[in-house]
Amino acid sequence: EERAAFIAGLPKAELHLHIEGSLEPELMFELAQRNRVAIPFGSVEEVRAAYAFSNLQDFLDIYYQGMGVLHREQDFYDLTAAYCARAHADAVRHVEIFFDPQGHTARGIAFETVITGITRALDDAAASYGMTSKLILCFLRHLSEADAEATLDAALPWLDRIDGVGLDSSEVGHPPAKFERVFARARTLGFKIVAHAGEEGPPEYVHQALDLLKVDRIDHGNRSLEDPALVARLAADGMTLTVCPLSNLKLCVVGDLADHPLKTMLDAGLKATVNSDDPSYFGGYVNANYQAVADALDLSKAELVTLARNSFTGSFLDDAAKARHL
Ligand code: ADE
Ligand code: ZN
Repeated sequence: EERAAFIAGLPKAELHLHIEGSLEPELMFELAQRNRVAIPFGSVEEVRAAYAFSNLQDFLDIYYQGMGVLHREQDFYDLTAAYCARAHADAVRHVEIFFDPQGHTARGIAFETVITGITRALDDAAASYGMTSKLILCFLRHLSEADAEATLDAALPWLDRIDGVGLDSSEVGHPPAKFERVFARARTLGFKIVAHAGEEGPPEYVHQALDLLKVDRIDHGNRSLEDPALVARLAADGMTLTVCPLSNLKLCVVGDLADHPLKTMLDAGLKATVNSDDPSYFGGYVNANYQAVADALDLSKAELVTLARNSFTGSFLDDAAKARHL
C-alpha cells in the first residue's frame, strides 16, 4: 500500500491511450440505448467476460465492435470526459490521446462529429482540472495507404487541433513501409509522428518506423530488445517508448508480468514510459499499470520517478511546459 500511495501521488503524463479503448461497459450500454444500436451482450458482466484475448487481433475485433455505439458528438464528448475524469484521479496532468477516425468514418460518422466531441471534452478538462492535452490521429494499418491519405485530407480543416499522427491496428503483415508516403506528407504538414511497432511485429518494423516514418516516439517497442544494435540506437537517440504493461499481459505479448521487459528497458538506458493503452479492455488505468508492473518487477521508487519523468520529457509539450512538470 505504501507503493500504491507513492504511485497515486506521482504527477504523470499518459502518452499511449486510445480514447475508444476507454469505453467502459456501462457507457457502452448507455450509448447503445441512446442510439438504438444492438450489442451482442446482455449485461455489463457479460461484456467483461468477453474481454479474454489470445492476441492483438482477438482484441481488435471486439474493440471495433465496441466503438460502434459511438454516433453523436455528445457520445464522443461523454467518452472523452469520462477518461479525463478517471485520469485526473490518477494524478495525470497531461494526456496525449489517440483516436481512430477510420473506425468511425467507415460507419458513416463524420470526421467533424468525432473531433468536435473529443476536443470539447479536452477543453473542459483543461478548464476543470488544468489538464493539458495533445491529440494524435492514428491510421488503421490493416487498411490501405490510400485510405490513410483520405483520412489525412479529412483532418486538414482541424490542423490546429491535431498534434500528431500515428499508426495502429493489426501489426503483423502491415509494416511501416506500407505508409511511407502518407507519413512523409504528415511530416510536411508539421505533425509529430508516432507508430505502434514491436508489439507483435519484429524488430525490423521498429527500424522501419525510425528510418521510413521518422517517428518521434515508438508505441510499445517491446520486441526491440531482440536486436542489440536497435537497443543501442534507441538509447543513443533518447527515443521514448510508450510501454503498456497490462495491455501486454492481456494480449499475451508477455506470458507473465514477471517476464515484462520494462526493467530491462530501463537498465539498457531506454526512455520507457508506462501507459494504459485501452484501459477498459485491459483492466486498469495508468496507476494500475504502474502498480502491477512495479509489483511484478519490484521496481524502486527511483525507477517509478524515472518513469513518470520520462512521461513528461517524452511528451509533445514545449520545453517551457515540460519544465513546469520537472
Ligand atoms: N488499437 C488499440 N489498441 C491497440 C494496440 N495495443 N495495438 C494496436 N492497435 C491498437
Ligand atoms: Zn496502442
